[in-house]
Amino acid sequence: MEDKKVILSGIRATGQLHLGNYIGALRFFVELAKNPGNKCFYFIANLHTLTTHTDPELLKKSLHGIVLDFLSAGLNPETATIYAQSSIPEITELTWLLSCLTPVNNLMTMPHYKEKGANLGKAESPNAGLLTYPVLMAADILAVKANLVPVGQDQHPHVEMTRELARRFNLRYGQLFPLPDLLEGEGIRLPGLTGHGKMGKSEEGRGVVYLTDSPQIVKGKIRKAATDPQRRTRKDPGDPQICNIFTFHTLFSAPEEIGQLSEGCRTAKIGCIACKDILIGHINEVLGVMRIRRQELEGKGKWFVDEIIHQGGIRAREVIQQTVQEAKELVGVPSY
Ligand code: TRP
Repeated sequence: MEDKKVILSGIRATGQLHLGNYIGALRFFVELAKNPGNKCFYFIANLHTLTTHTDPELLKKSLHGIVLDFLSAGLNPETATIYAQSSIPEITELTWLLSCLTPVNNLMTMPHYKEKGANLGKAESPNAGLLTYPVLMAADILAVKANLVPVGQDQHPHVEMTRELARRFNLRYGQLFPLPDLLEGEGIRLPGLTGHGKMGKSEEGRGVVYLTDSPQIVKGKIRKAATDPQRRTRKDPGDPQICNIFTFHTLFSAPEEIGQLSEGCRTAKIGCIACKDILIGHINEVLGVMRIRRQELEGKGKWFVDEIIHQGGIRAREVIQQTVQEAKELVGVPSY
């Protein structure tokens, strides 16, 4: 149907998905796909992954794992189109058209580029893919004429740039792209368990709960997690506002429970272990549902997931080919 809202988001194939991905992105993907007024495209940005991760076998394995995570989290391939970026050559074609509208200076001041660039030694030059990363992302978004892009806060500047590129394209060549919006009220960042930064790559292993972790592993990791550093003994009152674990409770526990825990922590009525055990229970409930689905999916064999990615690629490509053809015609470079 024409007037459906088009939603698109992507995740890079850098390894297994973790609770931070679930809280920041995946649970919104699932909710949005349940609404029949939405047309959802969710893809694995494996071309973006090439800017930092280049092991071919790992890349393929990680893509497959993420699709399993998507499905285990409750995405239905009938209502959401799930695909790999690399299945659709027209996306890179559109990237070229858009890159000819992009000032290099804007790319050089993107937080993503500055950070990655700064992490490299002085002698090493960042690859050009890192620089043009946001243009490829704009192509992902505009190729399906997305209206809404649910992504974490770190990606907001990229979506902003996409809006700018869409505006510029429409102005110069004629109206083609809607300006994509961000999802209201997102930007939730799940902290890492070590208490430093957000849950993610930098906290590999100990600081991260993976969606595939067993109940025992989840328990072990949470039990060891950092809490309010001022609360040294069981009798010390704590401050939930600076406790890592409390942030998790605000995301995984019921409102009345959150109130009780906050009060219990401030008055030292509840200890950190008891507080953590409640959280462990809730996280394992969420992951438990995923574990069951994952087991079912794994029972069906690898080809089952492969087929979902393949079919998703065909569906997405039909839409994207159409848009890119329109774009090429407007720009004056049609396929002759
Ligand atoms: N850059 C995003 C990330 O690292 C992944 C991504 C690529 C993406 N293309 C996208 C997200 C398009 C949303 C829309 O998380």
